[in-house]
Amino acid sequence: MDILELLNTFKKRFPSQQGEARIFFAPGRINLIGEHTDYNGGYVFPASISFGTYAVAAPRDDRQVRLYSDNFKDLGIITVDLDDLSYNKANNWANYPKGMIQAFIDEGFAIEHGFDILFYGNIPNGAGLSSSASIELVTGVALSSLYNLTIDRIRMVQLGQQVENKYIGVNSGIMDQFAIGMGKKDHAILLDCHTLDYQYAPLELGDYVIAIINTNKRRELADSKYNERRSECESALRDLQTQLPIQSLGEMSMTMFEEYKGLIKDDIHVKRAKHAVYENQRTKDALVCLKEDDLVGFGALLNQSHLSLQHDYQVTGIELDTLVEASWTQPGVLGARMTGAGFGGCAIALVEKDKWASFKENVASIYSAKIGYAPTFYKATIGDGANELNNKEVN
Ligand code: GLA
Repeated sequence: MDILELLNTFKKRFPSQQGEARIFFAPGRINLIGEHTDYNGGYVFPASISFGTYAVAAPRDDRQVRLYSDNFKDLGIITVDLDDLSYNKANNWANYPKGMIQAFIDEGFAIEHGFDILFYGNIPNGAGLSSSASIELVTGVALSSLYNLTIDRIRMVQLGQQVENKYIGVNSGIMDQFAIGMGKKDHAILLDCHTLDYQYAPLELGDYVIAIINTNKRRELADSKYNERRSECESALRDLQTQLPIQSLGEMSMTMFEEYKGLIKDDIHVKRAKHAVYENQRTKDALVCLKEDDLVGFGALLNQSHLSLQHDYQVTGIELDTLVEASWTQPGVLGARMTGAGFGGCAIALVEKDKWASFKENVASIYSAKIGYAPTFYKATIGDGANELNNKEVN
């Protein structure tokens, strides 16, 4: 859809709307490396992508908020009142924007009249590229513009995470909302999730591209497994804290971990904590590799990350492992790993541009033969973070 089509759809859905319709966009994200480290107080290295969520919005005079998603046409317009924004299962996807409006109100912002809003997302469905954080942040930028609010961008990012944690009930970390709220074209963000200090690293990949490969597996039990991993790490941390003055696993070096891992009572928890500590180091090393143009070193770190997520953190599964292992055997591939929470979703691979066609063909055929259905391939384009659009082209 381009801007014109979006505006037309908005007018068709909300024919009585006379106000000025404004257009907003929030991207999705990939994570280059630093997986399951954010809630462990470690580093992550994500980048915002050109797939994302568009929103068209205009104010109303009353206290109604009417929401429509072009991705869920069957659900029609969902109407809620500013005086009751509590979570309602029947509201389905609309709980994300509702949660964000509630978070803004709780933050003390005056939202005194309602609005009509249309969403359209082109992030592949259930792909683990953070469509939910993208809806949260596109709502955030829409609210700031529609109501002329001055809100610090990092605060908006934190409100998005709060919606996930307290309103939706997924104990996710800060990475997704940060990547989407703070993204920068052609850059990745190295973020210290403990202090929220961050730096942008130019993604200059020369003859290489980042492939995003969707397993197309439905991510069903993902949220409960995610919360389980998080509590396993918390338990490991508590054991370590009996003798160490640390607040998070992110504070431990690999040497320190090897010295004190005996304090962790449960063997499974040792593996989880090991991943968190070693992955954190790999993430810092990855920045150095990129700065030194060492794509081979960078690729090797991606591979190690996947192996650790497969064997120690155990969040990959046959679909992601098949994709990644098939990628490793292809000429022109410097590295590959799962990205995001895992249990399905997407993998990324660093692929030589000239080898793209054979890469796609071979990986697809290995995957389809083993899994029974095909994966989908995209070339990653790293775009800007969430914002209002000014007559720019819409993908
Ligand atoms: C999901 C969560 C993030 C992060 C990743 C794993 O995307 O939302 O906070 O924990 O999984 O790295």
